[in-house]
Amino acid sequence: MTGATTIITGIGELMTQDAEQRVLKDAAIVLEDERIAWLGPAANAPAADSRYDAGGRACLPGWVDSHTHLVFAGDRTAEFEARMAGQSYAAGGISVTVDATRRASDEELGSLVAQRVAEAGANGTTYLETKTGYGLNVEEEARSARIAAATADELTFLGAHLVPQGWKADDYVQTVTGPMLSAVRPYVQWADVFCETGAFTPDQSREVLRACRDAGLGLRVHGNQLGPGEGVRLAVEEAAASVDHVNHLELSDIDALAGSWSGWEGDPDSRGTVATCLPACDLSTRQPLAPARQLLDAGVPVALASNCNPGTSYTSSMAFCVATAVLQMGLTVAEAVRAATYGGALALHREQTTDDGGRLAVGSLAVGHRADLQLLDAPSATHLAYRPGMQLTHAVWRAGQRLR
Ligand code: NIG
Repeated sequence: MTGATTIITGIGELMTQDAEQRVLKDAAIVLEDERIAWLGPAANAPAADSRYDAGGRACLPGWVDSHTHLVFAGDRTAEFEARMAGQSYAAGGISVTVDATRRASDEELGSLVAQRVAEAGANGTTYLETKTGYGLNVEEEARSARIAAATADELTFLGAHLVPQGWKADDYVQTVTGPMLSAVRPYVQWADVFCETGAFTPDQSREVLRACRDAGLGLRVHGNQLGPGEGVRLAVEEAAASVDHVNHLELSDIDALAGSWSGWEGDPDSRGTVATCLPACDLSTRQPLAPARQLLDAGVPVALASNCNPGTSYTSSMAFCVATAVLQMGLTVAEAVRAATYGGALALHREQTTDDGGRLAVGSLAVGHRADLQLLDAPSATHLAYRPGMQLTHAVWRAGQRLR
């Protein structure tokens, strides 16, 4: 070891969520700069420069939140109240947030995004994706991308979130795939499309995805959120990293997702399409919960994400998502924690350290991975579901730096 080292001792339970998925009792972990240098039974731990006593608490990887929409101003309380009184969610509500976001200054928007990222971090999220999608013209999408690039770990271009009022859909798609894509390209790694009734048709969605792939972006899809549709099949056909929402699935959708992983042996080049479930959104929109149990049983890798946004899921609490996945979606605690850590990393293609070592693996605890971890104010991860709604985040390290 060459850098400054910290040892965390007194860990009651340590869930690695790496390939071996070990659960260690009486464990210790050594952080060296931004990496994990050692982990194992406390009795065998090496010496370190400084020491932190976990006091018997549980240690997990930091949450990987692979789906958020944090670049917005305003809120939609009235729409939420109307929904709780019986109205159904429709994509058109997005335009309310577009108006508020366009009115915000760069400083306001930058500080709103930074506050939201900090809030997520304080609650254990150590790696986070966010999106544009509340700008919906060339200048405003580029502004959202530039502002979010300062804070988000991964940034997605979602110009194809809604056809703005006054536009013909086909003209708007030409703008998204032309000048808008060029304007955001320096800031983003991913592209997404809302393939749904009231947003973009499968053909329009495919056109957007292909143009973005040609521009070198990885692909993601919002699919099968409000009803059955083509989103999942499109995502698999276009080799998207993830299809998100997945509330209304047919057996053929699940088969297509499972098929995309056949032959996957952990190598980055043959990853399939992750199914990303967004339980907080499902509850807030009163949609059927995504069939995470069925997906896992079929062999589909599942991610859990917050979908933090002002319309359908105004929370970045991954602990809430984990508790919901256990209590209402039929996952075990270990499965839900895995989906909220390793699953999110897989959906962002960040579960492995790159060959040149330039980007460290996140979402699991192993030697050489990024030192992203959290201690719970509880002796085991089971308490996330056993004591739902309680603030259990005790301490958080991101890339070896203490966040909380
Ligand atoms: O992921 N589904 C599309 N986009 C967001 C909702 C955006 C909004 O209503 O503001 C989502 O749920």
